[in-house]
Amino acid sequence: MVDETASLFARQAPFRRFPLQPLTSRRATALKGAVTAPGDKSISHRALMLGGLAIGETAIHGLLEGEDVLNTGKAMQAYGASVRRDDDGVWHVNGVGVGGLAEPAEVLDMGNSGTGARLLMGLAAGHPITSFFTGDASLRRRPMARVTRPLAEMGARFVTREGGRLPLAVTGSSTPMPIDYVLPVASAQVKSAILLAALTAPGETTVVEPQPTRDHSERMLRHFGATVRVEDRADGSRAVTLVGQPELIAATVRVPGDPSSAAFPAVAALLVPGSEVTIRNVGANPLRFGLFETLLEMGADIALENRREEAGEPVVDLVVRGGKPLRGVTVPAARAPSMIDEYPILAMAAACAEGDTVMEGLAELRVKESDRLGAVARGLAACGAIVEEGPETLIVHGQAKPPVGGATIASGLDHRIAMAFAVLGMVSEQPIHIDDAEPIATSFPGFVAMMNGLGAQIALAAA
Ligand code: S3P
Repeated sequence: MVDETASLFARQAPFRRFPLQPLTSRRATALKGAVTAPGDKSISHRALMLGGLAIGETAIHGLLEGEDVLNTGKAMQAYGASVRRDDDGVWHVNGVGVGGLAEPAEVLDMGNSGTGARLLMGLAAGHPITSFFTGDASLRRRPMARVTRPLAEMGARFVTREGGRLPLAVTGSSTPMPIDYVLPVASAQVKSAILLAALTAPGETTVVEPQPTRDHSERMLRHFGATVRVEDRADGSRAVTLVGQPELIAATVRVPGDPSSAAFPAVAALLVPGSEVTIRNVGANPLRFGLFETLLEMGADIALENRREEAGEPVVDLVVRGGKPLRGVTVPAARAPSMIDEYPILAMAAACAEGDTVMEGLAELRVKESDRLGAVARGLAACGAIVEEGPETLIVHGQAKPPVGGATIASGLDHRIAMAFAVLGMVSEQPIHIDDAEPIATSFPGFVAMMNGLGAQIALAAA
Protein backbone atom coordinates (compact mmCIF):
# COMPACT_ATOMS: atom_id res chain seq x y z
CA MET A 1 0.00 0.00 0.00
CA VAL A 2 1.41 3.37 -0.99
CA ASP A 3 1.34 5.97 1.75
CA GLU A 4 0.68 9.23 -0.08
CA THR A 5 0.16 11.24 3.08
CA ALA A 6 3.67 12.67 3.22
CA SER A 7 3.57 13.84 -0.40
CA LEU A 8 0.09 15.34 0.03
CA PHE A 9 1.28 17.25 3.09
CA ALA A 10 4.57 18.24 1.44
CA ARG A 11 2.63 20.03 -1.28
CA GLN A 12 1.13 22.31 1.36
CA ALA A 13 4.41 23.88 2.40
CA PRO A 14 5.66 26.41 1.88
CA PHE A 15 2.23 27.91 1.24
CA ARG A 16 2.73 29.64 -2.09
CA ARG A 17 0.38 32.12 -3.69
CA PHE A 18 2.38 33.03 -6.80
CA PRO A 19 2.11 33.00 -9.73
CA LEU A 20 -1.59 33.80 -10.00
CA GLN A 21 -3.90 31.32 -11.72
CA PRO A 22 -6.34 33.27 -13.93
CA LEU A 23 -9.69 31.70 -14.86
CA THR A 24 -12.31 32.63 -17.47
CA SER A 25 -15.91 31.42 -17.29
CA ARG A 26 -18.02 31.68 -20.48
CA ARG A 27 -21.72 31.29 -21.11
CA ALA A 28 -22.77 27.63 -20.99
CA THR A 29 -25.65 25.79 -22.56
CA ALA A 30 -27.63 23.36 -20.36
CA LEU A 31 -25.72 21.67 -17.51
CA LYS A 32 -26.47 17.96 -17.25
CA GLY A 33 -25.26 15.11 -15.10
CA ALA A 34 -24.83 13.72 -11.62
CA VAL A 35 -21.99 14.66 -9.28
CA THR A 36 -21.00 14.02 -5.69
CA ALA A 37 -20.29 17.00 -3.50
CA PRO A 38 -16.78 17.07 -1.98
CA GLY A 39 -16.51 16.27 1.72
CA ASP A 40 -17.71 18.81 4.25
CA LYS A 41 -14.87 21.11 5.25
CA SER A 42 -16.13 21.84 8.77
CA ILE A 43 -16.70 18.17 9.53
CA SER A 44 -13.37 17.13 7.99
CA HIS A 45 -11.38 19.49 10.25
CA ARG A 46 -13.22 18.23 13.32
CA ALA A 47 -12.78 14.55 12.38
CA LEU A 48 -9.00 14.97 12.16
CA MET A 49 -8.86 16.89 15.43
CA LEU A 50 -11.05 14.54 17.48
CA GLY A 51 -9.46 11.49 15.84
CA GLY A 52 -6.10 12.94 16.88
CA LEU A 53 -7.26 13.23 20.50
CA ALA A 54 -9.11 9.93 20.76
CA ILE A 55 -7.68 6.64 21.97
CA GLY A 56 -7.43 4.12 19.15
CA GLU A 57 -7.65 4.34 15.38
CA THR A 58 -10.29 6.54 13.78
CA ALA A 59 -11.22 5.85 10.15
CA ILE A 60 -12.45 8.84 8.14
CA HIS A 61 -14.30 8.18 4.89
CA GLY A 62 -14.89 11.03 2.44
CA LEU A 63 -12.47 13.49 4.07
CA LEU A 64 -12.19 16.70 2.06
CA GLU A 65 -8.69 16.71 0.59
CA GLY A 66 -8.56 20.49 0.21
CA GLU A 67 -5.63 22.60 1.35
CA ASP A 68 -7.36 23.83 4.52
CA VAL A 69 -8.06 20.34 5.80
CA LEU A 70 -4.64 18.98 4.78
CA ASN A 71 -3.05 21.73 6.84
CA THR A 72 -5.09 20.57 9.84
CA GLY A 73 -3.93 16.98 9.24
CA LYS A 74 -0.36 18.13 9.15
CA ALA A 75 -0.82 20.12 12.35
CA MET A 76 -2.31 17.09 14.14
CA GLN A 77 0.80 15.13 13.13
CA ALA A 78 2.92 17.91 14.62
CA TYR A 79 0.90 17.48 17.85
CA GLY A 80 1.86 13.80 17.94
CA ALA A 81 -1.10 12.06 16.30
CA SER A 82 -0.44 9.63 13.47
CA VAL A 83 -2.36 10.63 10.34
CA ARG A 84 -2.30 8.37 7.29
CA ARG A 85 -4.21 8.18 4.01
CA ASP A 86 -4.57 4.75 2.47
CA ASP A 87 -4.76 4.36 -1.28
CA ASP A 88 -8.48 3.53 -1.01
CA GLY A 89 -8.90 7.19 0.07
CA VAL A 90 -9.75 6.38 3.70
CA TRP A 91 -7.82 8.38 6.31
CA HIS A 92 -6.68 6.76 9.55
CA VAL A 93 -5.84 8.75 12.64
CA ASN A 94 -4.26 7.30 15.77
CA GLY A 95 -4.88 9.69 18.61
CA VAL A 96 -2.83 10.70 21.62
CA GLY A 97 -5.65 10.79 24.20
CA VAL A 98 -7.23 13.89 25.77
CA GLY A 99 -4.43 15.86 27.41
CA GLY A 100 -1.76 14.04 25.41
CA LEU A 101 -0.82 16.55 22.69
CA ALA A 102 2.95 16.97 22.19
CA GLU A 103 4.53 20.37 21.61
CA PRO A 104 4.92 21.01 17.87
CA ALA A 105 8.54 21.51 16.86
CA GLU A 106 7.58 23.90 14.05
CA VAL A 107 5.37 26.88 13.38
CA LEU A 108 1.91 25.66 12.34
CA ASP A 109 1.02 27.26 9.00
CA MET A 110 -2.75 27.06 8.71
CA GLY A 111 -2.74 28.56 5.23
CA ASN A 112 -6.13 30.15 4.47
CA SER A 113 -8.12 28.41 7.18
CA GLY A 114 -9.86 30.29 9.99
CA THR A 115 -11.49 27.06 11.15
CA GLY A 116 -8.17 25.19 11.30
CA ALA A 117 -6.42 28.00 13.15
CA ARG A 118 -9.16 28.85 15.64
CA LEU A 119 -10.14 25.30 16.55
CA LEU A 120 -6.53 24.19 16.97
CA MET A 121 -5.86 27.23 19.15
CA GLY A 122 -8.63 25.85 21.37
CA LEU A 123 -7.04 22.41 21.52
CA ALA A 124 -3.61 23.90 22.19
CA ALA A 125 -4.98 26.17 24.94
CA GLY A 126 -5.96 23.15 27.03
CA HIS A 127 -2.50 21.54 26.90
CA PRO A 128 0.63 22.75 28.76
CA ILE A 129 2.64 23.25 25.56
CA THR A 130 3.60 26.22 23.41
CA SER A 131 2.37 26.45 19.79
CA PHE A 132 3.06 29.06 17.13
CA PHE A 133 0.41 29.74 14.49
CA THR A 134 0.61 31.60 11.22
CA GLY A 135 -1.26 31.62 7.93
CA ASP A 136 -1.51 33.26 4.52
CA ALA A 137 -2.10 36.99 4.01
CA SER A 138 -5.88 36.51 4.31
CA LEU A 139 -5.70 34.58 7.59
CA ARG A 140 -3.15 36.99 9.05
CA ARG A 141 -5.70 39.81 8.59
CA ARG A 142 -8.54 38.01 10.38
CA PRO A 143 -9.59 38.73 13.99
CA MET A 144 -8.40 36.20 16.56
CA ALA A 145 -9.21 38.09 19.77
CA ARG A 146 -12.65 36.50 19.64
CA VAL A 147 -10.95 33.17 20.51
CA THR A 148 -7.93 34.33 22.49
CA ARG A 149 -10.17 36.22 24.97
CA PRO A 150 -12.21 33.23 26.23
CA LEU A 151 -9.20 30.90 25.97
CA ALA A 152 -7.18 33.29 28.14
CA GLU A 153 -10.03 33.20 30.68
CA MET A 154 -9.51 29.44 30.76
CA GLY A 155 -5.84 29.95 31.61
CA ALA A 156 -3.96 30.05 28.28
CA ARG A 157 -1.39 32.79 27.57
CA PHE A 158 -1.10 34.43 24.15
CA VAL A 159 1.35 36.70 22.40
CA THR A 160 -0.28 38.10 19.27
CA ARG A 161 0.15 40.84 16.74
CA GLU A 162 -1.87 44.02 17.14
CA GLY A 163 -5.60 43.32 17.21
CA GLY A 164 -4.98 39.72 18.25
CA ARG A 165 -3.89 38.75 14.76
CA LEU A 166 -1.60 35.97 13.51
CA PRO A 167 1.21 35.10 13.79
CA LEU A 168 0.63 34.33 17.43
CA ALA A 169 2.02 32.11 20.15
CA VAL A 170 -0.08 30.29 22.72
CA THR A 171 1.08 28.54 25.86
CA GLY A 172 -1.70 26.35 27.13
CA SER A 173 -2.55 25.76 30.74
CA SER A 174 -1.68 22.63 32.74
CA THR A 175 -4.79 23.32 34.83
CA PRO A 176 -7.36 24.79 32.42
CA MET A 177 -10.47 26.18 34.06
CA PRO A 178 -14.03 25.50 32.94
CA ILE A 179 -15.93 28.69 32.05
CA ASP A 180 -19.41 29.97 31.31
CA TYR A 181 -19.11 32.16 28.26
CA VAL A 182 -21.65 34.17 26.27
CA LEU A 183 -20.46 34.55 22.68
CA PRO A 184 -20.47 38.18 21.52
CA VAL A 185 -20.93 36.99 17.89
CA ALA A 186 -22.73 33.93 16.55
CA SER A 187 -19.64 31.92 15.61
CA ALA A 188 -19.29 28.15 15.46
CA GLN A 189 -15.53 28.56 15.32
CA VAL A 190 -15.39 30.41 18.63
CA LYS A 191 -17.87 28.01 20.26
CA SER A 192 -15.82 25.05 19.03
CA ALA A 193 -12.49 26.49 20.17
CA ILE A 194 -13.88 26.85 23.71
CA LEU A 195 -15.39 23.35 23.71
CA LEU A 196 -12.09 21.84 22.52
CA ALA A 197 -10.13 23.68 25.23
CA ALA A 198 -12.74 22.49 27.75
CA LEU A 199 -11.94 18.86 27.00
CA THR A 200 -9.00 19.01 29.41
CA ALA A 201 -10.73 21.21 32.02
CA PRO A 202 -12.42 19.61 35.05
CA GLY A 203 -16.17 20.14 35.45
CA GLU A 204 -18.60 21.68 32.99
CA THR A 205 -17.99 24.43 30.45
CA THR A 206 -21.00 26.23 28.98
CA VAL A 207 -21.02 28.35 25.83
CA VAL A 208 -24.13 30.43 25.16
CA GLU A 209 -24.61 31.44 21.54
CA PRO A 210 -26.99 34.31 20.68
CA GLN A 211 -28.35 32.27 17.77
CA PRO A 212 -27.65 28.59 17.11
CA THR A 213 -24.67 28.03 14.79
CA ARG A 214 -23.49 24.86 13.04
CA ASP A 215 -23.36 22.07 15.62
CA HIS A 216 -20.85 19.70 14.03
CA SER A 217 -18.53 19.91 17.04
CA GLU A 218 -21.32 18.96 19.43
CA ARG A 219 -22.43 16.06 17.22
CA MET A 220 -18.92 14.76 16.70
CA LEU A 221 -17.88 15.13 20.35
CA ARG A 222 -20.83 12.90 21.22
CA HIS A 223 -19.89 10.50 18.43
CA PHE A 224 -16.47 10.11 20.09
CA GLY A 225 -18.02 9.53 23.52
CA ALA A 226 -18.13 12.96 25.22
CA THR A 227 -21.19 14.23 27.08
CA VAL A 228 -22.64 17.41 25.55
CA ARG A 229 -25.92 18.96 26.69
CA VAL A 230 -27.83 21.49 24.60
CA GLU A 231 -30.50 23.83 25.95
CA ASP A 232 -32.59 26.06 23.69
CA ARG A 233 -33.66 29.13 25.61
CA ALA A 234 -36.84 31.19 25.29
CA ASP A 235 -34.91 34.23 23.94
CA GLY A 236 -33.65 32.20 20.95
CA SER A 237 -30.18 31.65 22.38
CA ARG A 238 -28.68 28.20 22.85
CA ALA A 239 -26.51 26.95 25.72
CA VAL A 240 -24.06 24.15 24.97
CA THR A 241 -22.44 22.39 27.92
CA LEU A 242 -19.51 19.99 27.72
CA VAL A 243 -18.57 17.73 30.61
CA GLY A 244 -14.78 18.04 30.83
CA GLN A 245 -12.09 15.37 30.82
CA PRO A 246 -13.95 12.70 28.87
CA GLU A 247 -12.17 9.72 27.42
CA LEU A 248 -12.59 10.08 23.67
CA ILE A 249 -12.75 6.74 21.89
CA ALA A 250 -11.81 6.32 18.22
CA ALA A 251 -14.80 6.16 15.87
CA THR A 252 -15.63 5.76 12.20
CA VAL A 253 -16.61 9.02 10.52
CA ARG A 254 -18.37 9.23 7.17
CA VAL A 255 -18.07 12.83 6.07
CA PRO A 256 -21.14 14.02 4.14
CA GLY A 257 -20.80 16.29 1.12
CA ASP A 258 -20.41 19.97 1.88
CA PRO A 259 -23.62 21.98 1.33
CA SER A 260 -21.43 25.09 1.03
CA SER A 261 -19.65 23.48 -1.95
CA ALA A 262 -22.80 21.89 -3.41
CA ALA A 263 -24.19 25.44 -3.51
CA PHE A 264 -22.04 26.27 -6.58
CA PRO A 265 -23.18 23.52 -8.97
CA ALA A 266 -26.73 23.89 -7.57
CA VAL A 267 -26.99 27.63 -8.33
CA ALA A 268 -25.24 27.13 -11.68
CA ALA A 269 -27.89 24.54 -12.61
CA LEU A 270 -30.70 26.86 -11.48
CA LEU A 271 -29.41 29.75 -13.58
CA VAL A 272 -28.50 27.95 -16.81
CA PRO A 273 -31.76 27.21 -18.70
CA GLY A 274 -32.45 23.58 -19.56
CA SER A 275 -30.11 22.23 -16.87
CA GLU A 276 -30.78 19.13 -14.82
CA VAL A 277 -28.13 18.25 -12.27
CA THR A 278 -28.16 15.75 -9.42
CA ILE A 279 -25.81 16.45 -6.52
CA ARG A 280 -25.45 13.39 -4.34
CA ASN A 281 -24.62 13.08 -0.68
CA VAL A 282 -25.19 16.69 0.42
CA GLY A 283 -25.14 17.38 4.16
CA ALA A 284 -28.57 18.70 5.16
CA ASN A 285 -27.91 19.77 8.74
CA PRO A 286 -30.61 22.41 9.36
CA LEU A 287 -27.94 24.76 10.73
CA ARG A 288 -26.23 24.67 7.31
CA PHE A 289 -29.21 24.65 4.98
CA GLY A 290 -30.34 28.30 4.88
CA LEU A 291 -29.27 28.83 1.26
CA PHE A 292 -31.50 26.04 -0.05
CA GLU A 293 -34.41 27.30 2.06
CA THR A 294 -33.89 30.75 0.53
CA LEU A 295 -33.60 29.45 -3.04
CA LEU A 296 -36.85 27.49 -2.60
CA GLU A 297 -38.54 30.71 -1.41
CA MET A 298 -37.23 32.39 -4.56
CA GLY A 299 -39.06 29.77 -6.64
CA ALA A 300 -36.15 27.44 -7.43
CA ASP A 301 -36.83 23.93 -8.68
CA ILE A 302 -34.82 21.83 -6.21
CA ALA A 303 -35.98 18.39 -5.10
CA LEU A 304 -34.57 16.85 -1.93
CA GLU A 305 -34.40 13.09 -2.43
CA ASN A 306 -33.18 10.02 -0.59
CA ARG A 307 -33.04 11.62 2.88
CA ARG A 308 -30.88 9.61 5.26
CA GLU A 309 -28.52 9.97 8.21
CA GLU A 310 -24.78 9.28 8.21
CA ALA A 311 -22.53 9.51 11.27
CA GLY A 312 -25.09 11.62 13.10
CA GLU A 313 -25.62 14.09 10.22
CA PRO A 314 -28.64 14.29 7.88
CA VAL A 315 -27.81 13.82 4.17
CA VAL A 316 -29.86 14.24 0.95
CA ASP A 317 -29.44 14.11 -2.80
CA LEU A 318 -30.40 17.33 -4.58
CA VAL A 319 -32.03 17.33 -8.02
CA VAL A 320 -31.83 20.82 -9.50
CA ARG A 321 -33.61 21.93 -12.66
CA GLY A 322 -32.76 25.21 -14.30
CA GLY A 323 -34.51 27.97 -16.14
CA LYS A 324 -37.44 28.59 -13.78
CA PRO A 325 -37.64 32.34 -13.07
CA LEU A 326 -36.43 33.32 -9.60
CA ARG A 327 -38.00 36.12 -7.50
CA GLY A 328 -36.15 38.40 -5.09
CA VAL A 329 -36.79 37.81 -1.38
CA THR A 330 -35.80 39.28 1.97
CA VAL A 331 -33.37 37.04 3.83
CA PRO A 332 -33.77 37.75 7.55
CA ALA A 333 -30.72 38.32 9.75
CA ALA A 334 -31.79 35.35 11.87
CA ARG A 335 -31.03 33.03 8.95
CA ALA A 336 -27.46 34.27 8.53
CA PRO A 337 -25.70 31.67 10.72
CA SER A 338 -27.24 28.82 8.69
CA MET A 339 -25.95 30.21 5.37
CA ILE A 340 -23.07 32.43 6.38
CA ASP A 341 -20.74 31.12 3.66
CA GLU A 342 -23.42 31.13 0.97
CA TYR A 343 -24.15 34.85 0.56
CA PRO A 344 -21.70 35.30 -2.34
CA ILE A 345 -23.41 32.59 -4.43
CA LEU A 346 -26.89 33.71 -3.32
CA ALA A 347 -26.03 37.22 -4.52
CA MET A 348 -25.27 35.78 -8.01
CA ALA A 349 -28.72 34.15 -8.11
CA ALA A 350 -30.28 37.38 -6.81
CA ALA A 351 -28.64 39.38 -9.62
CA CYS A 352 -30.43 37.16 -12.18
CA ALA A 353 -33.78 37.09 -10.32
CA GLU A 354 -36.70 39.42 -10.74
CA GLY A 355 -36.92 42.13 -8.08
CA ASP A 356 -34.98 43.00 -4.96
CA THR A 357 -33.18 40.55 -2.74
CA VAL A 358 -32.46 42.09 0.65
CA MET A 359 -29.81 40.39 2.78
CA GLU A 360 -29.55 41.53 6.39
CA GLY A 361 -27.29 40.86 9.37
CA LEU A 362 -24.11 40.40 7.33
CA ALA A 363 -21.52 42.02 9.63
CA GLU A 364 -19.57 38.75 9.87
CA LEU A 365 -19.11 38.67 6.07
CA ARG A 366 -16.62 41.50 6.46
CA VAL A 367 -14.17 39.24 8.35
CA LYS A 368 -14.26 36.06 6.30
CA GLU A 369 -11.45 34.97 3.94
CA SER A 370 -11.99 38.43 2.42
CA ASP A 371 -14.46 41.25 3.06
CA ARG A 372 -17.13 39.31 1.19
CA LEU A 373 -19.77 42.02 1.43
CA GLY A 374 -17.46 44.50 -0.29
CA ALA A 375 -16.11 41.95 -2.78
CA VAL A 376 -19.57 40.80 -3.88
CA ALA A 377 -20.93 44.35 -4.18
CA ARG A 378 -17.91 45.57 -6.16
CA GLY A 379 -17.79 42.52 -8.40
CA LEU A 380 -21.51 42.54 -9.20
CA ALA A 381 -21.42 46.26 -9.96
CA ALA A 382 -18.43 45.68 -12.28
CA CYS A 383 -20.53 43.03 -14.08
CA GLY A 384 -23.37 45.53 -14.59
CA ALA A 385 -25.69 44.49 -11.73
CA ILE A 386 -27.42 47.06 -9.55
CA VAL A 387 -26.46 46.64 -5.89
CA GLU A 388 -26.55 48.65 -2.67
CA GLU A 389 -23.98 47.90 0.00
CA GLY A 390 -24.67 48.93 3.60
CA PRO A 391 -22.45 48.33 6.62
CA GLU A 392 -24.25 45.04 7.34
CA THR A 393 -26.64 44.67 4.43
CA LEU A 394 -26.62 43.93 0.74
CA ILE A 395 -29.49 44.72 -1.59
CA VAL A 396 -29.37 43.29 -5.10
CA HIS A 397 -31.86 44.78 -7.56
CA GLY A 398 -32.45 41.81 -9.83
CA GLN A 399 -33.29 42.58 -13.48
CA ALA A 400 -34.91 39.21 -14.35
CA LYS A 401 -31.92 38.46 -16.55
CA PRO A 402 -28.21 37.92 -15.92
CA PRO A 403 -25.95 40.96 -15.68
CA VAL A 404 -23.81 41.58 -18.76
CA GLY A 405 -20.52 40.39 -17.21
CA GLY A 406 -17.24 41.15 -18.93
CA ALA A 407 -15.39 42.13 -15.75
CA THR A 408 -12.22 40.81 -14.11
CA ILE A 409 -12.87 39.91 -10.49
CA ALA A 410 -10.12 39.99 -7.86
CA SER A 411 -10.63 36.84 -5.79
CA GLY A 412 -8.60 38.33 -2.90
CA LEU A 413 -7.45 34.91 -1.58
CA ASP A 414 -11.12 33.95 -1.24
CA HIS A 415 -12.26 30.64 -2.74
CA ARG A 416 -15.95 31.45 -2.51
CA ILE A 417 -15.61 34.79 -4.30
CA ALA A 418 -13.76 33.01 -7.12
CA MET A 419 -16.37 30.23 -7.43
CA ALA A 420 -19.39 32.54 -7.13
CA PHE A 421 -18.28 34.77 -10.01
CA ALA A 422 -17.23 31.71 -12.07
CA VAL A 423 -20.88 30.59 -11.76
CA LEU A 424 -22.16 34.01 -12.83
CA GLY A 425 -19.91 33.80 -15.91
CA MET A 426 -21.87 30.71 -17.00
CA VAL A 427 -24.92 32.92 -17.71
CA SER A 428 -23.58 36.43 -18.33
CA GLU A 429 -23.49 37.64 -21.93
CA GLN A 430 -19.76 38.36 -21.77
CA PRO A 431 -17.24 36.08 -20.05
CA ILE A 432 -16.19 36.77 -16.47
CA HIS A 433 -12.50 36.58 -15.61
CA ILE A 434 -11.13 35.78 -12.16
CA ASP A 435 -7.61 37.06 -11.50
CA ASP A 436 -6.61 34.12 -9.32
CA ALA A 437 -8.50 30.85 -9.04
CA GLU A 438 -5.88 29.11 -6.89
CA PRO A 439 -7.76 29.72 -3.60
CA ILE A 440 -10.50 27.37 -4.87
CA ALA A 441 -8.19 24.49 -3.90
CA THR A 442 -8.66 25.38 -0.22
CA SER A 443 -12.20 23.94 -0.21
CA PHE A 444 -13.09 22.49 -3.63
CA PRO A 445 -10.03 21.18 -5.49
CA GLY A 446 -12.15 19.52 -8.22
CA PHE A 447 -14.39 22.51 -8.88
CA VAL A 448 -13.32 23.36 -12.45
CA ALA A 449 -13.28 19.72 -13.59
CA MET A 450 -16.67 19.03 -11.98
CA MET A 451 -18.32 22.10 -13.49
CA ASN A 452 -16.84 21.48 -16.94
CA GLY A 453 -17.96 17.85 -16.68
CA LEU A 454 -21.52 19.16 -16.31
CA GLY A 455 -21.11 21.39 -19.36
CA ALA A 456 -19.58 24.62 -18.04
CA GLN A 457 -17.03 26.50 -20.15
CA ILE A 458 -14.36 27.34 -17.59
CA ALA A 459 -10.80 27.77 -18.81
CA LEU A 460 -7.73 28.09 -16.64
CA ALA A 461 -5.05 30.22 -18.30
CA ALA A 462 -1.54 28.83 -18.34
CA ALA A 463 0.04 30.24 -15.19
C1 S3P B 1 -17.08 27.34 10.33
C2 S3P B 1 -17.81 28.36 10.87
C3 S3P B 1 -18.11 29.61 10.15
C4 S3P B 1 -17.87 29.47 8.66
C5 S3P B 1 -16.60 28.77 8.34
C6 S3P B 1 -16.57 27.39 8.95
C7 S3P B 1 -16.79 26.15 11.16
O1 S3P B 1 -17.26 30.62 10.65
O2 S3P B 1 -17.89 30.74 8.05
O3 S3P B 1 -16.41 28.66 6.94
O4 S3P B 1 -16.36 25.11 10.61
O5 S3P B 1 -17.03 26.20 12.38
P1 S3P B 1 -17.65 31.49 11.97
O6 S3P B 1 -17.75 30.54 13.08
O7 S3P B 1 -16.50 32.44 12.16
O8 S3P B 1 -18.92 32.18 11.62
